[in-house]
Amino acid sequence: MRYVAFPGHPLPVSQVCLGTMMFGDKCDAALSEAIVARALALGINAFDTAAMYSAGASEQYLGNALKAAPREQLFVATKVVKGVDRQSILASLDESLTRLQMAYVDLYLIHWPVQGMNLTEMMGALNEVVRAGKSRLVGCCNFPAYLLASANAVAAARGWAQLRCNQVAYNLMERGIEVEILPQGSLEQLAITAYRPLAIGLLTGRFLPGMPMDAATRGMTDARVLTWLSQHGRSLERFVAYAQAKGLHPAQLAAAWVMHHPVVTQPILGVSSLSQVESAVQVPDILLSPAERQEITDLFQTEVTEEGLQRFPGTRYNFPRMRRTLTLAVRE
Ligand SMILES: NC(=O)c1ccc[n+]([C@@H]2O[C@H](COP(=O)([O-])OP(=O)(O)OC[C@H]3O[C@@H](n4cnc5c(N)ncnc54)[C@H](OP(=O)(O)O)[C@@H]3O)[C@@H](O)[C@H]2O)c1
Repeated sequence: MRYVAFPGHPLPVSQVCLGTMMFGDKCDAALSEAIVARALALGINAFDTAAMYSAGASEQYLGNALKAAPREQLFVATKVVKGVDRQSILASLDESLTRLQMAYVDLYLIHWPVQGMNLTEMMGALNEVVRAGKSRLVGCCNFPAYLLASANAVAAARGWAQLRCNQVAYNLMERGIEVEILPQGSLEQLAITAYRPLAIGLLTGRFLPGMPMDAATRGMTDARVLTWLSQHGRSLERFVAYAQAKGLHPAQLAAAWVMHHPVVTQPILGVSSLSQVESAVQVPDILLSPAERQEITDLFQTEVTEEGLQRFPGTRYNFPRMRRTLTLAVRE
């Protein structure tokens, strides 16, 4: 396993984080604990859960599985169950800590923005959490760049703890974060953790055009998989062939593609079996040059550009790319 720095935290974290959303869902208590034991044995020290995953069962099973491990060598992230008001933020964390059987988490995340949210109240409550020692860092998931910047401006003006992480969906088919969120992550030195790196299993090669779907997979129950399959079927076939030609499993190559974006801190790999953990721990060993990563990117037509910034060969066609890699002096 390779380890990377997590901005604001002293512990080097495994280059892949284990996603536990299937604990209490596809994985019962015994399988969840076996998965975590295997992950620990293979060097994973970062775990992602949430209060809402299987109504708390994910946190419970993860807590049971981590009980015997040295706490200071673990990085555990969880998320507020719902609401971003002070009461929800404080109460949800206390409940999570009870289920996790821990005195603190390493990262406490707002799960989703909420209509009408009050940024001052939210940031004040997150500051209380940090001051009370119940979480080492705070962050958010699924925040647009402007919202994270506004929340941190509120906190900075009051000397409060700032959001240090944005956890966002990123994979070869969902690339919207390249427009604003990844550049912001680089400029503001944020942790960017990437969930859904395999597009719910679609990038593993288990679903291809014309192929019957395996009834045991999440693809059977998640409508997004069929939608993406109809939109990107040809690209998926090319991607699977590309992985096979390199002697790699498509699931590992798809995760490596996410991991090798220079601003991504860690992909969060969701697993539902022991063999998937064993596959996940090999991802950091896959080395991709920027040119190889671009070759894989180009197998899909999924680049997202803001209106007016499309490429027009011969006329400032480099503008979108330059804009995404624009560097500024890092803010002190
Ligand atoms: N913050 C948020 O809003 C948010 C939202 C979603 C997820 N998350 C986090 O991100 C984690 C990952 O998300 P995700 O599980 O949706 O995405 P994912 O990593 O794209 O998909 C995981 C699924 O891919 C399949 N898979 C994994 N490894 C495989 C392999 N080696 N070979 C074949 N199939 C394989 C499994 O499907 P089967 O189970 O069907 O076998 C697994 O459940 C979650 O566990 C959670 O911690 C966060």
